[in-house]
Amino acid sequence: MKNIDLKEAYLKFFESKGHKVIPSAPIIPENDPTCLFNTAGMQPLVPYLKGEPHPEGKRLVDVQKCFRTNDLDSIGDTTHHTFFEMLGNWSLGDYFKKESINWSFEFLTKVLEIPIDKIAVTVFKGNNIVPADEESASIWKSLGINKIAYLGEEHNWWPNMELLGPCGPDTEIFYWRSTEKTPDVFDPENENWVEIWNNVFMQYNHENDGKFTALKNKNVDTGLGVERVTAILEGYTDNYKSSVWKDVINKIEEISKLSYEDKENARSMRIIADHIRAVVMISGDEAGIKPSNTDQGYILRRLIRRMIRYAKKLNIDINSNWEEELALLIINKYSKYYNELEKNKNSILETLKTEKIKFSKTLEHGLKEFEKVIKNIEGDTINKDIAFRLYDTFGFPIELTEELAKERNLKVDTQGFKEKFAEHQEKSRQGATGKFKGGLASTGEMETKYHTATHLLNAALKKVLGEHVHQKGSNITAERMRFDFSHPTKMTDEEKKKTEDLVNEYIKMAIPVERLEMKKEEALKMGAEAMFIDKYGEIVTVYKIGNISIELCGGPHVKNTSELGHFRIKKEESSSAGVRRIKAILE
Ligand code: ALA
Repeated sequence: MKNIDLKEAYLKFFESKGHKVIPSAPIIPENDPTCLFNTAGMQPLVPYLKGEPHPEGKRLVDVQKCFRTNDLDSIGDTTHHTFFEMLGNWSLGDYFKKESINWSFEFLTKVLEIPIDKIAVTVFKGNNIVPADEESASIWKSLGINKIAYLGEEHNWWPNMELLGPCGPDTEIFYWRSTEKTPDVFDPENENWVEIWNNVFMQYNHENDGKFTALKNKNVDTGLGVERVTAILEGYTDNYKSSVWKDVINKIEEISKLSYEDKENARSMRIIADHIRAVVMISGDEAGIKPSNTDQGYILRRLIRRMIRYAKKLNIDINSNWEEELALLIINKYSKYYNELEKNKNSILETLKTEKIKFSKTLEHGLKEFEKVIKNIEGDTINKDIAFRLYDTFGFPIELTEELAKERNLKVDTQGFKEKFAEHQEKSRQGATGKFKGGLASTGEMETKYHTATHLLNAALKKVLGEHVHQKGSNITAERMRFDFSHPTKMTDEEKKKTEDLVNEYIKMAIPVERLEMKKEEALKMGAEAMFIDKYGEIVTVYKIGNISIELCGGPHVKNTSELGHFRIKKEESSSAGVRRIKAILE
């Protein structure tokens, strides 16, 4: 197979098929409290899959930054990653199965030069919503692919039957990753068959009431993982040996003076490599996430701490600048695609350093705690509760507890710990799925009103506090809105009252909300506000509310401000340095 830059080749190929390249959306979903991170390329495109016109047209292609927390504890093996890049191409009510399958086939066999006999596919076998996908099967056959398996909802319906939002049957493409001869019959259970690409025919919306209704458009949503496919193209079964990771692993070898070929070290090195990249991507995102004990901040904290523990395992001097060296390598490597990394370089490095210093202290406390508890244990075994507390409170991995115990001729109830750990994991997984279950960027009537209210609030704050006010973030549910903005000091009661009154005045003025499309440059010239300027392509959607507000935004919004009702500020507080947060409701 060819040695090519997969990302470049993919974008170029779909550009040649009339697609517009759009920039990756931030890794943190905007205005979507139901998800902590973008987990697929389609997530930021939900409004367009639901029928809103996209300013760049009906054919889109991109590389999307994705992050999945459910894989966090399997990191360390050769194929899992928390952060990964997803290549995707979309048809928003334009082409459908025939072109989608033909182009996937052409890209794989002509551009990547994957031999036909190494390709197999699955198609949907049908349920009570849609019949078996004979159309896709016959398109595959016409291309000479006869290894076809018909599978049910659990495999060939994306995302699944539970999540709300756009969804549909899919056809998945598999690659035979083995030196053994490709079997004549395709058995999807055989682990040598690796899934490389998913083409979803997104034509339904899973509604709040459980029904599946037809979307306005028949869309195509595809996803292909950069890390996995790069490893396949380069002939590795260990993703970390491919060009995506090679330089990072080499750097860790250089810093630790140990070899990746030594099995003892390999797992720690993979964890550090995966985590440092994820940490750079999350803390370098425009959303400005910092380590904390909740939501994205908590994930960021866990990643940094876990990485430090494994660096310690490799005997890396934690107080040296090892984390900075690694972070700089990642920043340089990925800035070409995500230029916010270069822009936020100092803050990424600062975040890492601060958290490192904090954790070094916890580590010390944990070690002291360890010395204390072993004095009081009965018998020669550290029980599961102590082991779990060391893990949970002080961040001690079981291996560290075991190591320390061994030095003192003690044992650890590792089995008990693992059971307790599994219970705990199950709980956090339930928590994480709970977050996702609310639906993919659900935008009901109330959420739409709150979207428009954020624009009015932004405008009112500028009037009351000054032009230095810019939006730093927002979070909307059907019940309330949260709005973060740049301002150095606490707002006075008078300022709050003035802001509230002004927003209500705008509402009373019954101003029409206009949706315009124009060149990004032109919008900026008109003084349009934009929170994440880099995420927008050449042509942008702008929402204009009379001469009160003009903002780059994907929407959706109400048609007229009079629809909003009465606006009330419930709270004004600090969010982070130089950033204030307002919580408000419409009543
Ligand atoms: N959205 C689809 C996936 O993530 C393409 O697999």
